Order: sequence, then C-alpha cells, then structure tokens
Amino acid sequence: MSSQRKDDHVRIAVEQQDGRGGHNEFDDVTFVHHALAGVDRDDVSLATRFAGFHWPVPLYINAMTGGSEMTGAINRDLAIAARETGVPIATGSMSPYFKDRSTADTFSVVRKENPDGFVMANINAMASADNAQRAVDLVHADALQIHINTIQETVMPEGDRSFSSWPRRIEEIVAAVSVPVVVKEVGFGLSRETVGLLSKLGVAVADVGGRGGTNFARIENSRRELADYAFLDGWGQSAPACLLDADGAGLPLLASGGVRNPLDVARALALGAAAAGASGIFLRTVVDGGADALVTQLSTWLDQLAALLTALGARTPAELTGSDVLIQGKLAAFCAARGVATDHLARRCSSLPNPIM
Ligand code: FNR
Repeated sequence: MSSQRKDDHVRIAVEQQDGRGGHNEFDDVTFVHHALAGVDRDDVSLATRFAGFHWPVPLYINAMTGGSEMTGAINRDLAIAARETGVPIATGSMSPYFKDRSTADTFSVVRKENPDGFVMANINAMASADNAQRAVDLVHADALQIHINTIQETVMPEGDRSFSSWPRRIEEIVAAVSVPVVVKEVGFGLSRETVGLLSKLGVAVADVGGRGGTNFARIENSRRELADYAFLDGWGQSAPACLLDADGAGLPLLASGGVRNPLDVARALALGAAAAGASGIFLRTVVDGGADALVTQLSTWLDQLAALLTALGARTPAELTGSDVLIQGKLAAFCAARGVATDHLARRCSSLPNPIM
C-alpha cells in the first residue's frame, strides 16, 4: 500500500507540473531596478551559512521519495544530480523503511551516490525517537527533516486524524537525534506562530513549504473515491507570505513551495530565506530526462542565480536582504491583514552602511 502510494504521488505530482510556471505569489515580489548597482560576477559567491550549516549554494532538492523500486531509481538520479552540482538534497519520508527494512536501498542510494554532499533524512512527526535516529543513520544524514502535513493527512484516505501529540513528539525527536532538525510543511505554509513554537521546541530551522506549487490537497483528493475535498484546493499561505510573516519569529527560514525558476530563488533570498528548495519541478525533469537533464537544469539555475545577484549588486545571498523589493497584490493584502509592514522593503538599499547606490 505504502509503496503504491509513493508511486501514485510521483505520477500525480509529475502530471501537476503540466501547469507549471503559472502565476503564484512569488510574482507579487518585484525587485526595484537600480541600473548602476551591479557588481562583478567574479566577486559573487553563492555560499550560504545558517544554523551551523555551510551550503555551497542557496538551493536544494527538497524531500520527495523512496520506498518502492521506481522511487529508488528516482532517488538515485536526484542524488547524482546533487553530487554533480553541489546542491543539498533531502530524501523522501522514510516511513516505508520503518515498516519494511527491505526498502532501505531506495533511501540509502541517496548517500551512496552522493558521499560528500549535504543530505537530509525525512520523517513524519509520528516517528519514534529511535526511528528518527535510524533514518539519520541509514543515509549518514547531516540534518533531519520532520514534515508536518495536517491538511495532506486530512485529505489522504488512509491519513492520520490525530495531531495533538505532534509538538511533544517533535520536541522528543529534537532531543534524541544526533543532527540538527529542520521542520517543514509540504505545501500549505508555516505561520509566524508555528515558527515561534518550533523555535521553543528546539528545532534548528523552519522550511516554510508554502502554497503555490505541488498541491497535496489536490493529489490526495484525486486518490479519494469521491474526490470530495476539492474545496481545500487553495488552502494555506505561499512561501513569500510565510517569509514575510515569520521574519523575526526566532528561526532561520528556508523557502520552498512554488519555486519555479532562479528569479523565485532570488526573491526568496531577498525576503530573508537562507536558501530556497524545489521538488515537483526537479522531479519532472528527472522523470523526463534522467540525472543528466537535472544536472543541466540545476547548473543553469545556479549560473542564472549568480547572474541575478551580479546585476542586483549582491555579492552573497545574504546581501540580497539589502535589495529593494516591492510587495504587491494578494501578498500585500495578506501582509496588511497580518500587521506585517512592507513599505520599508522598497527603500532599504539606501539605508545600508555602504549603500549600493
Ligand atoms: C513531496 N513532498 C514531501 N515532503 C516531505 O517532507 N516528505 C515526503 O515524503 C514528501 N513526498 C513528496 C513526494 C512528491 C512526489 C512530491 C512532489 C513532493 C513535498 C515537497 O518536499 C515540497 O514540500 C512540496 O512538493 C512543495 O514544493 P514544490 O513541489 O512546489 O517545489
């Protein structure tokens, strides 16, 4: 059942990519163009540091899969592309491994193909502390992701219906495992209040996992006999909304959910993310063209991201937080309703100690 579900997720998520590239709330974030702000490409470094992590690039392949023959092959291709480009990578949820040890190779292949890269293991909030450490050990993980996904579970026909123990379980896992813990949503976003609570639970990093890309309400609804949860299609907050909402909530933030291109990565960095991740778009690439196609795509994204930083006058990803951005449309309305000031973001470069203009 579990391995069938993994294969279903891949198939439906790949189909969802047919509509990729359409409008989402990243389009409500616009850089102010300063024509003389540019720096030299040779002076730009994409390295990013946060929570004790040192990543060569501010981009990662976010959690997807493992647990079946087909998804093991996908993990192999994802890991090869991660190795060739230096991009950090997460495995999919290791729940199948806890139930059936014969699936181990479909996850450990990520470390086998990528011995020196930054690898994150992935579990859900119901995993025992022992299993959490087993997941870390299986892939010699540098960090552990715990996904929280109440809406996905709600729509999933065979999903969990009890969520009250999740905060306590997260705290137990954080205390027990040997690596830092990243908590992530799967496409519905993390609010400021949630990030604040995660900080109190000892979590090291929050990955906002916002709305606007792969839609697990839709994926799980299509697996229901009556498809009767279509009304949850637009649930949740986008990644840019979460970044603005949770700024100052106590944790370094990663941005994922609906990242479509290098400009979205730059937008996320400008809103304070330490790095941006994507899943569905990279999955589609490996399913269509294998590891080589993903190496090409990741290399192109990194090259174009460096070009954007160069034109924007940012020598590092962190310097993008000094760039001027306009917040418009539905994103601006969300911020106004949540009491998040955004006007100053459009005028911040002139107030830097060494203004770029
Ligand atoms: C996912 N995602 C996911 N997340 C997680 O924490 N554990 C998991 O096992 C999975 N499984 C999974 C399977 C497939 C096929 C996809 C496409 C995605 C969610 C993923 O990490 C991410 O949060 C969302 O997909 C949103 O990002 P994108 O796809 O819009 O870039």
